Amino acid sequence: MDFGIKVGTPEKQRGACVVVGVFESRKLTDPAKVLDNATDGYISNILRQGDLEGKANTTLLLHNIPNTLCKRVLLIGLGKEQEFGDKAYLDAIRAAFNALHKTGAADATFFLTEIPVKEREDAWKISQAILVGTQSIYRFDSLKSMPEKNKPHLRKVILNVVNNSQLTVGKEAIQQGQAIAHGMNVAKDLGNMAPNICTPAYLAKQAKDMAKTHKLKVSVLEQKDMEKLGMGALLSVAQGSRQPAKLIVAEYRGRGKMEKPVVLVGKGVTFDTGGISLKPGANMDEMKYDMCGAASVFGTLTAIAEMKLPINVVGIIPATENMPDGNATKPGDVVTSMSGQTIEVLNTDAEGRLILCDALTYAERYKPDAVIDVATLTGACVIALGHVATGLISNNNELAQELLHAADNVNDRAWQMPLWDDYQDLLKSNFADMANIGGRAAGTITAGCFLSRFANKYRWAHLDIAGTAWNSGKEKGSTGRPVPLLAQFLITRATATS
Ligand code: BES
Ligand code: MN
Ligand code: ZN
Repeated sequence: MDFGIKVGTPEKQRGACVVVGVFESRKLTDPAKVLDNATDGYISNILRQGDLEGKANTTLLLHNIPNTLCKRVLLIGLGKEQEFGDKAYLDAIRAAFNALHKTGAADATFFLTEIPVKEREDAWKISQAILVGTQSIYRFDSLKSMPEKNKPHLRKVILNVVNNSQLTVGKEAIQQGQAIAHGMNVAKDLGNMAPNICTPAYLAKQAKDMAKTHKLKVSVLEQKDMEKLGMGALLSVAQGSRQPAKLIVAEYRGRGKMEKPVVLVGKGVTFDTGGISLKPGANMDEMKYDMCGAASVFGTLTAIAEMKLPINVVGIIPATENMPDGNATKPGDVVTSMSGQTIEVLNTDAEGRLILCDALTYAERYKPDAVIDVATLTGACVIALGHVATGLISNNNELAQELLHAADNVNDRAWQMPLWDDYQDLLKSNFADMANIGGRAAGTITAGCFLSRFANKYRWAHLDIAGTAWNSGKEKGSTGRPVPLLAQFLITRATATS
């Protein structure tokens, strides 16, 4: 879908559809008023008949209104004017796209981005509209033999702004919105891909393809390379699988060599059966999403490369399956990580931290300014925060605040949990330096505590996306999160230091 901005007036738009908003109690927004005046009260007459009250998530489609040049006018109910904040705005945009997809309109001009939203600038409204719009047409049908029918007709969306001075800011917002939306689609496609196809080798191949289109430097470490490095924790997860593990490294350079990079580490378990600590069968298919951390790193790299952000970023993806097998790691096995610390594997289903810990040690060689790992790490995080917020744990409060601020900014929420020493005791082992699980209590925090022991050489943050990376049920599918959070974090950093 193409997006553009312009300055115009609703009655003079030629195209297939003009979209204007109406607040509750039939209160017209400014552009709706302009349209109403130009059409001798056509809109207000219809509203008076009771066809649209202006409640949130309601719409009304009108055709061929006299004195207008467009084929259709789509009225969007916006809810109460005093309550028009983030959620109301996003609901309105979503309602507009959904209604448009039910029509034959191939283009539309939105007069919604000019409505004041509490504490939000035009740039925010524009880029968010692009994220919602792109989301509304996303389909994953590459594995279906027959292409889906009823595909949306909408091709082009123009977002109207009030005056010319907003065009420059608007263009940048469009560029950023499109790059993030594209990055989300990359993450979604990888997440949704079937796990017999999306293997560690497939992820490595995707990275190499990405390197060609986006000028990234990609290298892939094979198992023998990881053995040489002493990555005993990562390899202990891979040893039960027929699919060889890969450690994928993708470097984006938007700045000089001397500038320290941000390192993004993404959990790439392409299928998590639990291993010998086998998971129950119900919904196990969803464990194909256990590589969504990796997918979000690929998506974020795509987005920042498209924006040509002036910043250095390294993506590190430990990729493996977690399978039960005669050669698989057993509960009670003790493995030695690349850091030298030994780990008693009490539960082979706590495999994410085992692959991440070696990747975190490997990250040291990039002398990073900050390291952020992203992982579908704990079911406990879903219990704590549901499907709304990503869990955040960090050894540096400034970094945590930066991430929380970015999350807030792009509506890709995160919530911080504590990394207090009091929790570290739960990882005690009688037979190794630490156990890989801390028991049922505070499962997300003890997983963070485990990782923190491999991240003390730099500023580090951990994002647990177990509840936010995909949707279950009828709407099953990858969400593309936390690509917006990570991309916004990097945008803010790049602009603050350039
Ligand atoms: N990939 C899972 C976490 C997960 C489970 C994410 C369900 C989303 C939904 C992870 O590898 C795992 O199995 N974690 C265990 C840890 C436990 C054994 C300490 C969990 O959360 O049950
Ligand atoms: Mn697991
Ligand atoms: Zn897992």
